[in-house]
Amino acid sequence: MSDLWITALRGTEVALRDELREMGFRGAKADRGGARVPVDGGNELEVAFQICLWTRIGVRVLVPVANEIEARDEAALYDGVRAIPWERWLDASTSIAVSTVSRSSAMTNERFLALKIKDAIVDRLRDVTGDRPSVDRDDPAAPVFVHLKNDRARVFLDASGDALHRRGYRLAHGEAPLKETLAAAVLRLSGWDRESPLVDPTCGSGTLAIEADLWARDVAPGLSRDRFAVERWRSMDDGLQARFAEARERAARLARREGPDVFASDHDVNVVDAATANARRIRSNVRFSIGRFGNLEPTRPSGTVVANLPYGERIAIDPSLWDEVARAMHRGASMRWALLLGGAPPDGVLPSPDALVPLWNGPIECRLALIGSRR
Ligand SMILES: C[S@@+](CC[C@H](N)C(=O)[O-])C[C@H]1O[C@@H](n2cnc3c(N)ncnc32)[C@H](O)[C@@H]1O
Repeated sequence: MSDLWITALRGTEVALRDELREMGFRGAKADRGGARVPVDGGNELEVAFQICLWTRIGVRVLVPVANEIEARDEAALYDGVRAIPWERWLDASTSIAVSTVSRSSAMTNERFLALKIKDAIVDRLRDVTGDRPSVDRDDPAAPVFVHLKNDRARVFLDASGDALHRRGYRLAHGEAPLKETLAAAVLRLSGWDRESPLVDPTCGSGTLAIEADLWARDVAPGLSRDRFAVERWRSMDDGLQARFAEARERAARLARREGPDVFASDHDVNVVDAATANARRIRSNVRFSIGRFGNLEPTRPSGTVVANLPYGERIAIDPSLWDEVARAMHRGASMRWALLLGGAPPDGVLPSPDALVPLWNGPIECRLALIGSRR
């Protein structure tokens, strides 16, 4: 039994765990920076593929290729990595790229560590296959990730390849777009039932609304990817290939054409145009309009408002926006509200939240204020 490690943005780990459990991985556990999924030996690539295809919150799906190895010094690390049976997954035609993170360890130079690890993998494959794999930093077939902690290294192959937030639909965006994976976590944390209407009144490039629509209609986010890194490994035999194809077909069948009403608006006509183009690219049903937050009308039946308000240095919050938010909340008092805030609003503007969930949008520490979440 070993654990797949699914990385996630800081603050979204519990939402990821819940998503994985809902996918059927009952043993999923949240941890700092992601979640673990225990797998029985033998089927880890299939589980990894399934998660690549379906996770909306996970950023990378890492397959362990060695138990913790000794990494007190360069020689121990090199020997440990060279002893891994890389030929099980890779051959000389599989391009690689190594990235490392070192914490609380004697060796701290991550670039140097990556170089040593790359040498060990190349030497192993050359010995076994007679040929050397190439290094491709831009589009490696086998991204290798090594995490050093307390002088021990955990070695993983990244089954996803390109980070999973790159869904491919968001070519156009306004300022400060949310990563798709963070948007998906916000939606899950908002408590939205995926049936009643959902509104995003500060939609920017439309990420929250588009993610909401795709989630409610069970459109697997990985369906828009041609292939994941795992599909480029030597371990892809015909059986695995057929099972991956089946998983894709099943996902395509599950996607529904119709879903709940999802509305999105913004006061900036240019970003609404960009959001509309993004939604069209992924065949999303979101209905866009141009409008100010203060004019937001409550939906019938009552639904959920999810908004990512302007914040930080990139968009200084306009004080009059708070008046608009307060007005809209007064009118929409029967709705649930989930507001992603960069800073605390002035006292007395918002009703006191039921919960304030800490989330990180890159380096920016935010709070997701949940109001009316028991409605
Ligand atoms: C942080 S951005 C939203 C980014 C969005 N979540 C995305 O992923 O692209 C905030 C948005 O609020 C909009 N905005 C600011 N004040 C507004 C107002 N009074 N009414 C409506 N939209 C407003 C801005 O035009 C901007 O697009």
